[in-house]
Amino acid sequence: MGSIAAEQPTKIAPPPSKSHYKIASIPADGIGPEVISAGISVLETLAETFKSFSFSFSHFDWSSDTYLRTGAYIPPDGLKQLKAHDAILFGAVGDLRVPDHISLWGLRLAICQPLQQYANVRPTRILQGVSSPLSACQGSPAATSKLDWVIIRENSEGEYAGHGGRSHIGQPWETATEVSIFTRVGVERIMRFAYETARSRPKKHITFVTKSNAQRNGMVLWDEVHDMVRKEYPDVTSDKMLVDAMTCRMTLQPETIDTIVATNLHADILSDLAAALAGSIGIAPTSNLDPTRQNPSMFEPIHGSAWDIAGKDVANPVGTFWTCAEMVRWLGQEEAAELLMEAVENTMGKGVKTRDLGGSVGTKEMTSAVCEEIQRLGAGNAVPTKAS
Ligand code: IPM
Ligand code: MG
Repeated sequence: MGSIAAEQPTKIAPPPSKSHYKIASIPADGIGPEVISAGISVLETLAETFKSFSFSFSHFDWSSDTYLRTGAYIPPDGLKQLKAHDAILFGAVGDLRVPDHISLWGLRLAICQPLQQYANVRPTRILQGVSSPLSACQGSPAATSKLDWVIIRENSEGEYAGHGGRSHIGQPWETATEVSIFTRVGVERIMRFAYETARSRPKKHITFVTKSNAQRNGMVLWDEVHDMVRKEYPDVTSDKMLVDAMTCRMTLQPETIDTIVATNLHADILSDLAAALAGSIGIAPTSNLDPTRQNPSMFEPIHGSAWDIAGKDVANPVGTFWTCAEMVRWLGQEEAAELLMEAVENTMGKGVKTRDLGGSVGTKEMTSAVCEEIQRLGAGNAVPTKAS
C-alpha cells in the first residue's frame, strides 16, 4: 500500500511569520476561568517583555452554564468564529449538573474533531521544585532527572471515534457497542507527526505503543503503518511496546523513553501515569494540534475543572503557564516559550508554589511571581525588540 505523504492533509506546516496573534479564550468550567486569566496575564507580560510580538484575546463564554441556559455549548457559527483566530486557549470542561459525555462531546471534542486537531502532544518533565514519586521509590532525585518525555496521542479517531449504539435499553439483554475506528490516513498522519517530533529532539528515539496481540484488526493496521513510516526516518531509533508493559517501563526505566506514540485511549491512560510520575497532574499541559495549520490549534491544561477548589484562589496555574509556553512555541516564538518555562521553573525552584505542591501561595500570587520573573529574565537577557 502506497504512502499518502504527498497529499495535503498530512503535511506538517511551519509556523507563520507573524508578530500579532489573535487568541480565542474559552475558560469554561470550574477553575478554568481563574487559570485562563492567570495565563493571559503571563502571556501579556511575555509580549510586553519581548516587544517583538503581541496578542489580542477574544473571550468565548462557552461553558456548562451556557449549555444549561441555552441547550448548546457552542452556537451554530461557533467553529467559524474560532477559525478567525491563530490559536485557542482552553480552560476546563466538566460540571456535576451535566453528564461527562455530554460536556466532553458538546465542547472539547466538538472543537478538536471538526478542526482536525489530530495530534495531541503531552510533554512530561519533572519541573524544578516538584518532587516525583520515582525519587522516593528509587531513592535518588538524580534517577528522575532523566524523565523527559513527549507523548503523542492520536486525537481524532480510535477509541474516541464515537461510533456505536445501544439497543434493548433496560432489558436484561441490553446491548451496547463502542467501536474503535482506525483509518489509514488517520494512523499515517499521526505516525509521521510523531516521527517528526522524535527527530526534533536530542535523543531521536521513539517508543511505539500497541496492543495488536489482543486487538487483531485496528491495532494490526496501526502496526503495519508504523512499520512503513519508520523506514522513512532512518535517523530515528524506535522500539515497540504493548501498552500494558509500557506502564512498567515508564515506572521502572523512565530514562529509556523519549517520544511515545499511542492511540487516543492508550495515550490518555499513559499520560495520566506520566503526569503522576512527573509529580503532579496539576501542572501537565496539552496541545491539540492541526499540524497542517489549516485550522487553529487548541491548548489546555490537563487538570480539568476541579470544582472543589473553584473560586478560592488556590488553583495551581502552572499547568496553564506550561500550556501557554507550548502555544507560544507552536506560534513560532520559541525563545519566548523557553523564557516562560525558565521563569516558571525559577519561581518554583525558589519555593514559590501553590498548596498542591507543598507551597503556600494562591493562584494570583503565583501568577505575579512568574510575571516578575519573566520581567527579570527579560531585562537580564536583553530580549530582542522590534527596533533592534
Ligand atoms: C484528557 C482527559 C479527557 C480525555 C477527559 C476529560 C474526557 O482525560 O484530556 O486526557 O479522556 O480525553
Ligand atoms: Mg486523560
